[in-house]
Amino acid sequence: MEIEFVAADAPLGPKTAVARVVFEGQAQEGALARAVAASRFTGAKGQTLDVLAPEGGADRLVLVGAGKADGFDAIAAEHAAATAYKAMSVSGLETLRIELPQAGPELAARAALGVRLACYRFDKYRTKETADKKPSLAKAQVVSADGDAALAAFPPLAALADAVSFTRDLVSEPANVLYPAEFARRVKDLETLGLEVEVLGEAEMTELGMGSLLGVGQGSVRESQLVIIRWNGADDPNAQPVAFVGKGVCFDTGGISIKPADGMEDMKWDMGGAGAVAGLMHVLAGRKAKVNAIGILGLVENMPDGNAQRPGDVVTSMSGQTIEIINTDAEGRLVLADALWYCQERFKPKFMVDLATLTGAIIISLGNDYAGCFSNNDELAGNLLDASSKEGEPLWRMPLPEQYNKQIDSMIADVKNTGGRPGGSITAALFLQKFVNNYPWAHLDIASTAWKKPSAVPTIPDGATGYGVRLLNRMVQDKYEG
Ligand code: BES
Ligand code: MN
Ligand code: ZN
Repeated sequence: MEIEFVAADAPLGPKTAVARVVFEGQAQEGALARAVAASRFTGAKGQTLDVLAPEGGADRLVLVGAGKADGFDAIAAEHAAATAYKAMSVSGLETLRIELPQAGPELAARAALGVRLACYRFDKYRTKETADKKPSLAKAQVVSADGDAALAAFPPLAALADAVSFTRDLVSEPANVLYPAEFARRVKDLETLGLEVEVLGEAEMTELGMGSLLGVGQGSVRESQLVIIRWNGADDPNAQPVAFVGKGVCFDTGGISIKPADGMEDMKWDMGGAGAVAGLMHVLAGRKAKVNAIGILGLVENMPDGNAQRPGDVVTSMSGQTIEIINTDAEGRLVLADALWYCQERFKPKFMVDLATLTGAIIISLGNDYAGCFSNNDELAGNLLDASSKEGEPLWRMPLPEQYNKQIDSMIADVKNTGGRPGGSITAALFLQKFVNNYPWAHLDIASTAWKKPSAVPTIPDGATGYGVRLLNRMVQDKYEG
């Protein structure tokens, strides 16, 4: 999608739809006023009214409701532009001109971001789609009184859109294509952005004593990988880094504790945490963030097989703690246990945030829109929640009650990997906490938000959301740069 910022009186080109974003109750004139009167369009958020061949040169004009004027913020501008895109994407027209009711450069740049996020599609495996079903829009022109300022504000947002698309591609790929080594290879390609990428295989991880992570992958013919991504953007090259760790289960069958067939295909996106961390590193490099950051991806495939891990097995993690495997389907925490330990031992970070599609229980707790935030540090949790509300990626703080630890006491090892149904997301987080020393740490359980079908948010097409990239990018930008 090509993006331009143009003046209100710039001539209209051929095959152009004009989207006029209007507030609730805002009066129109002439034929438009009649069109509004003949419809139920009020200007409420999310409404659209399509007017064919209006007077004034455009081929189509679509009114887009933006709700009340005083709530028109950056997210509202994104959503209005994304709604306009969705209304016109398969219209047959090629250019979408967006007129905002308040055309400051910041909001204009945000509107452009909204279009970039809304036009994402994962269509590489469609070979028979007819032309009339394919999106026709190729260019968005956002009207701005100060086009130069809008253009200057856009590059970091374009970097964000690129990164979210990268994450969505990873998450959308089927597991026969995106297995651990292929995931690692795609991340290695990001070195062209200035990132440093190291890939450890099973031999190196065995050497490091990562029995917890390796146990999960041992039933798969695909080799497990640990990917270490570094972005050194701070003025002081030795500044303590911030660190992000992602669960990358490229497919989760459950292993010997196998999952039911119904819906198992969803488990291709059980690498959404690692996908978000990779996307975060992409945007930090893309916008040359002034921070030192580490991204660690624990990549495995959880399969049942003659060599697979059994319920009842005991593994020794890199930390030295032993783990009794009660359920091989509680594998994400086993991957993160070693990835978190490795991260803190090697990098001594300022903090660690892990992202994981960790538990079905978080969906039971919070529903389909909120991710869960578990943290041992109020400042870090506060920074995450703050970024979450600014970027429109909902997050809710969950407790880490010490007394629930008894649910994961093992009879024969230091800890067991499941704590039963009560508070399943909480005991999973408490398990992770045993692999965190005295570092500020937060765990985001994104099983509820990594994938949306259907999506009710116009900037998020159905499927992979890219949840986490925006939130973490914003937190780094607001709190840890410079
Ligand atoms: N990857 C799943 C969690 C999940 C479930 C993500 C649904 C997205 C949608 C995870 O590995 C898992 O299987 N968790 C189990 C844990 C249980 C065995 C203690 C769960 O949530 O049922
Ligand atoms: Mn599982
Ligand atoms: Zn899983």
